Amino acid sequence: MNIGLIGSGGREHALCKKIFDSKLTKKIFCMPGNAGTLKFATNINVNILNFRKVLKLIRSHKIDLVIVGPEEPLVKGIVDFLIKNKVQVFGPKKYAAQLEGSKAFMKKLCLKNHIPTAKFKICKKLNEVKFFLKTCDFPLVVKADGLAAGKGVTICRTKEQVLKETSQIFNGKFKSSKKVVLEEFLKGEEASYFIIADNKTFKFFGTAQDHKRVYEKDKGPNTGGMGAYSPAPIITKKIEKKILSKIIVPTLKALQIKKKPYNGFLYVGLMIKKDEPFLIEYNIRMGDPECQVILPRLKTDIVKIFKNAICNKLNQTKIEWEKQKSMTVVLCAQGYPGAYKKNIPINKLNKIILSKKDFIYHAGTKEINKNLISNGGRILNIMSIGNSYFKIRKKIISYIKKLNLKNTFYRKDIGWRVINKR
Ligand code: AMP
Ligand code: GLY
Repeated sequence: MNIGLIGSGGREHALCKKIFDSKLTKKIFCMPGNAGTLKFATNINVNILNFRKVLKLIRSHKIDLVIVGPEEPLVKGIVDFLIKNKVQVFGPKKYAAQLEGSKAFMKKLCLKNHIPTAKFKICKKLNEVKFFLKTCDFPLVVKADGLAAGKGVTICRTKEQVLKETSQIFNGKFKSSKKVVLEEFLKGEEASYFIIADNKTFKFFGTAQDHKRVYEKDKGPNTGGMGAYSPAPIITKKIEKKILSKIIVPTLKALQIKKKPYNGFLYVGLMIKKDEPFLIEYNIRMGDPECQVILPRLKTDIVKIFKNAICNKLNQTKIEWEKQKSMTVVLCAQGYPGAYKKNIPINKLNKIILSKKDFIYHAGTKEINKNLISNGGRILNIMSIGNSYFKIRKKIISYIKKLNLKNTFYRKDIGWRVINKR
């Protein structure tokens, strides 16, 4: 089959490598891809939000199956558009994509179905916020309703801060958001649980823990993710049962009842508090960098899984996993997640000899005249698999030192929760 892969991050490089490994794959076309996907695929530079252009490319390259990596085209309805045009595509439709595309939609669904999540209030006007502030406790979490590229959540400690953040959102800070969600602050440990769903059923697709804050000891502003590992030992069998029965099953059922079933990857962002899971967020896609640690542990042919999910045959699909652990550390451009250095030359990548258990996934990279340069805040993901998180991290850091990239930084404490408990 010819496969079309939409997106350009580390997640898409990881998907691209797995798709390349499938015996069902003939050619891969990445739209737009990055310098890493070039090794496995033909990159096509296109605006992925221009669905008509994407469709034209799908037809001209005789693409049989399309996989959508990032949230924005999904939330804007690329799957509905492609299905209407008779293209086989993996990912949720626009209605179900609101689980990530609108925090208000997600919270209302939780409330209606008694899904454990932080208490909340949806506000459309500043006066509503002011009124709510009379009775609420602090810290208070302020969230823009729509997609905000990871920048829509602020944990506020004072009324003034809440008013400042909410005013900015009402004044159009994020084009996608006219509403805000004010949320109770949940204490606990964060972890992510993944499933793949078709219209009838779903299967486990791994667990992971990301590190969202930019600096060590979980300090500084939120980022897209600075590093991750899989599996997440905090998700015990007992907690998993609760995640399934209290959160995932009622969510999928609610969408099925609406005749809008969920089909695609679902990323369940959780806060675990005293052995009880609370839903923080849904993402309607794989995580980035979580995908870079989950896919290397997948033993089953990924294209077969995608095909079966589209045909609602997941119940006949056995998905098998490697027992070993994996970790990735993200190498970022100085300044990220704010304004960051661009066009950093990446010279030594080819000279690094990786063992079979290791891989360097590209995120923000591009190739110009055979020279590799950075093209984003998160540049490379250095990933390794093994039996001990401590040893895996040591190996990853030794590769980063060999790369010796100027004007970059990374967190040296990825996995601190699992490594300190060693
Ligand atoms: P979200 O975009 O909803 O995932 O939020 C980004 C990050 O903000 C999460 O990964 C958490 O670290 C934090 N966060 C979001 N909601 C809450 C909450 N209700 N309580 C505590 N932390 C939160
Ligand atoms: N790593 C967080 C996310 O993909 O949303």
